[in-house]
Amino acid sequence: VVKASASAEQFAPSNIALCKYWGKRDRELNLPINASLSVSLDYLGSHTRLIPVDGQRDEVWLNGQQLQPGARFSQKVSAFIDLFRRDQDLYFRVETRNNIPTAAGLASSASGFAALTLALNDALALDLPPEQLSILARMGSGSACRSLFTGFVQWNMGLREDGMDSHGIPLARTWPGFCIGLVEIDAAEKATDSRSGMQRTVETAHLYQSWPLQAAADLSKLQQAIEARDFELLGQTAEQNALSMHATMIASWPPLLYWQPESVAAMQKVWQLRAEGMPVYFTMDAGPNLKLLFQREDRDALLKHFPGLETVEPFGP
Ligand code: PMV
Repeated sequence: VVKASASAEQFAPSNIALCKYWGKRDRELNLPINASLSVSLDYLGSHTRLIPVDGQRDEVWLNGQQLQPGARFSQKVSAFIDLFRRDQDLYFRVETRNNIPTAAGLASSASGFAALTLALNDALALDLPPEQLSILARMGSGSACRSLFTGFVQWNMGLREDGMDSHGIPLARTWPGFCIGLVEIDAAEKATDSRSGMQRTVETAHLYQSWPLQAAADLSKLQQAIEARDFELLGQTAEQNALSMHATMIASWPPLLYWQPESVAAMQKVWQLRAEGMPVYFTMDAGPNLKLLFQREDRDALLKHFPGLETVEPFGP
């Protein structure tokens, strides 16, 4: 039972999936059809502040601007706080600041819901353990359950119907020199969010039937690559996994193509660099932007081909 509320502020990192979550077996609880594996982006993510307010509804602010109560993000945030509120009159001003572009396939909903979960845990003095916080964050946005942890994180699909075994688990390995580069093609909000994109794929693409098999095989290759610090195996697996997910999207009806011509040009540039001997790979989420996977020693050479590339070292310099 929640008794008191106080102000709180928390940060959670964004995360990039190397084996993607695509498809829900339970849309209320955000239970996935497949297990996934990601890497958290260190300092890139969301700062969320909660301030209790006297009114009868939450106020949601995103990057310094108050959102209309009817805005999609506002409604998602309030519905999420309802899980904590139960029947009590307990409303907040929620201020989220992302230091990554919002809703452009750079997973800001993941860091946003993870930071909000951590802030609610503090504001309501819940003192919940990380797995339970991960389960709660999952209900806000599936991939948010991985943003509760740093480094490589696995999200097991779980077997239970109540979802109590479906949460993020940090994988113990570190990987100095491992780099991620964000290629921003378009920062505008995408037309089809991942929730409706997943549903359309699951319901209309026959190709989707092969996806759980692809994801399971990729997950074990990624575990092996992380264990052995085999960068090529990691990069190849992540790139093929992302393209396989996009293949299922394209095979949906109406077709779901998140790419823009510039996305394809960037993919071709990556393939060209690889043909010239540079170990660089890409992954993509439900948006037009690319995330490059490479090693620190190739950073300067890569920047010549992708000027203005924002690079992050998830395991520190
Ligand atoms: O957590 P959601 O509902 O925003 O879905 C995320 C889906 C992908 O970003 C495409 C894949 C992933 O695992 O992050």
